[in-house]
Parts: sequence; C-alpha cells; structure tokens
Amino acid sequence: MSHKTIHLIAAARPNFMKVAPLYHALKATDWAKPMLVHTGQHYDRNMSDAILEDLGVPEPDHHLGVGSGSHAEQTGNVMIAYEKICMASPPDWIVVVGDVNSTVACAMVGAKLWIPVVHLEAGLRSGDRRMPEEINRLLTDSIADVLWTPSEDADENLAREGVAAERIDLIGNIMIDSFEMLRDKIEATDARTENGLETGNYGLVTLHRPSNVDSAETLAPIVDELVAASALLPLVFVAHPRTIKGLEAFGLKSRLDDAAGITVLEPQPYIRFMNIVTGSKLVITDSGGLQEETTYLNIPCLTMRENTERPITITQGTNRLIRADTLLDNVQAVMQGNWPSGTKPALWDGSTATRAVAELKRRSYAD
Ligand code: UD1
Repeated sequence: MSHKTIHLIAAARPNFMKVAPLYHALKATDWAKPMLVHTGQHYDRNMSDAILEDLGVPEPDHHLGVGSGSHAEQTGNVMIAYEKICMASPPDWIVVVGDVNSTVACAMVGAKLWIPVVHLEAGLRSGDRRMPEEINRLLTDSIADVLWTPSEDADENLAREGVAAERIDLIGNIMIDSFEMLRDKIEATDARTENGLETGNYGLVTLHRPSNVDSAETLAPIVDELVAASALLPLVFVAHPRTIKGLEAFGLKSRLDDAAGITVLEPQPYIRFMNIVTGSKLVITDSGGLQEETTYLNIPCLTMRENTERPITITQGTNRLIRADTLLDNVQAVMQGNWPSGTKPALWDGSTATRAVAELKRRSYAD
C-alpha cells in the first residue's frame, strides 16, 4: 500500500483542538503520513504554541508565518505562501478545519492545484453573511472535495445547497476527542484555585467577535452588564487580544479591573482553560467552540450573538442566544436553577478522529 501524505492546516486557536486528534490518529496508521502546516494566523504563545504543546502535537512541518492583517491581506498571504509549498511538493490530501481565513485560503490553493481537499467541520451555517466566518464556510464547502460534518443539521444544510451525498461523511465533533484525550490532565490542573475561583461558583466570560468588541457602541453596554452581573456571581473574563485592544481603545478596561467580582485573565493554554470551563456555573461567550463544549459538559451557555451556526447546541444542548441588555436576567435565571439541561448530540463521543481516518483510508484506496 503506497503511503499518503496529508497536510493538516492549523492556523488559529480554535483549529488546534480539531487538528490534534486527527494528527495523532493518522500518525498511528501504517498508511498515512500527516504533516502539520501552521499558517501563523495566531502567533502569541498562549494563542498557539502553548495549546499545541498541551495537545501533544510536535513542531509544524511548515510554518507560513503570515500573522495579522486585513481579511484580504491575511487570506492572500496564506495563499501565496501555501501555494509555493504545494507546488514544490504536492500532498495527496489537504485537510482544512473550521472557518477562519486560513481555512478558505488553503482550500482555494488545493482546489486550483487539483489536490483533493477535505473540510473538517463542514456544513455549519449561521445564515449571517456579515460574519466573515460564514463567507469562509460557504466558500470552503463549495470547493472542498470531501465534507466532514459534525452533526445531522450540517448534512441538512449541505443537502439544501445541492451538495451530492457522496461528498459528505458525518463523522461527529472532533473537538470532543481533544477534551476526552486530556480529561485527566484537565481535572488534575489547578488553574481555578490559582486564580481564586471556587468550583461551581463563578461564570466564565469570553468575547472576541468583531460585532461585539470592535466598537464602543456594542462593547460599553456589555461591560456595564458584566459589572452588574458580577454582583450576583463572580466572573472570570479570559480576554482575547482583539478584545483587550477594544477595551483599552474605548477606555473600558479600567471598569472591568475596578469591579470587585471580575477577574481579567490573558488567553490560557488548552488544559488550564478547560479546567476553568469545567468548574464554571455558566459561560458567557460569543465563541463557536464554547457553545459546543458547554453542551457536551451540560453547563449553561449564554451566547451573546444574534444567530449561531451551531443550532444543535440550542435544540439539544444548554445554549441560548442572548442580547447584552438581557444578560443580567439570564444570569439570574441560571442562579435560580431556571435553565434547561441538555443532551449530548450523536457522535460527540471522543471517537470522531477514528471515523475520519477510516473515511480517508476508504477514499484514498477506492480505485
Ligand atoms: C480569528 C478567526 C475567528 C476565530 C478566532 C479565534 C477569522 C476571520 N477569524 O479571529 O473565526 O473565532 O480567530 O480566536 O479568521 N492577535 C494577537 N495575537 C495573536 C492573534 C491575533 O494579538 O496571536 C490580535 C491582532 O491584533 C489581530 C487581532 O488579534 O489583528 C485579530 O486576529 P485575527 O486572526 O485577524 O482574527 P481573530 O479575531 O483572532
């Protein structure tokens, strides 16, 4: 059996916990040679290398070092750098994950060089084209050869868009594999106690969507509500670099620092962060991944967005979409035990990478 070289594209924080289980599962086969390509979209230690170390992933085989920029700059720079690598030594497969700018950039490079592309976490749709990620999802799914979906609703979206069934493999939610792989270490670490957090008695806050944090008009009312909510429940705000920038630029950072019930932390590596997640009473977020992790862990999730590409976390899980001006009421509802508990969606079971590898092998040796 001839070996297959598989590029796994990792770019930004939410990609790493999706790439790692696949990397390990491919590495354990006798037919696949996984190669990690890091585009460098995220580059701060805690946004990148510290997470990869937690996940046991070695140094990338290729590092494109693109860094930050406008959407066009970031997407274009990834394409220019990645095309050179693929032209010098084309892999048998390219696996892109999630919905960040590097995802669509590398999918485009592969499609134009006739290298088969797999999209891991395909089929999710928020229906909101003002979100850059929605554009990335639509474009990536339309040009990828194989679409690996996390749940039935994603398959339904793709079917509605006319995607042929043979391009789709329903494999489940691979992020859960990372959590289960590291569950013991997550439970054993003491990030909570080190930050003065009492298990079950604090809320975790993460916000980084441009629609929430890039303007004072949206961020100031959110900060006001967080300060008010912190009188009911201590809050730990693990702040993304984009959010810190906004808080400082709009003169809001000191309001958080001055609130007795709020602790602001810099981004955390995966194991420490998940230790804080698992001990929380509730999560306030605009992240995609946290909507899923809280559903899996049965923790109430208050999502500060108008829509979600992960509706299964609402229909089956613990997630609710909220507006800033209802934050306090929603925190109160959780405190009073007035929050629906959820169920784990099918195939969110820690074995998604195994199913992915089986599908890739089947497709690799189909002829
Ligand atoms: C990106 C993804 C978003 C994902 C998020 C997770 C796109 C369009 N957006 O958003 O879908 O939810 O990652 O974190 O791909 N910065 C640093 N250090 C870093 C990385 C970024 O300081 O390591 C700062 C820079 O000022 C940068 C800003 O954060 O300009 C935004 O980074 P960028 O990668 O453009 O988008 P994110 O907001 O991180």
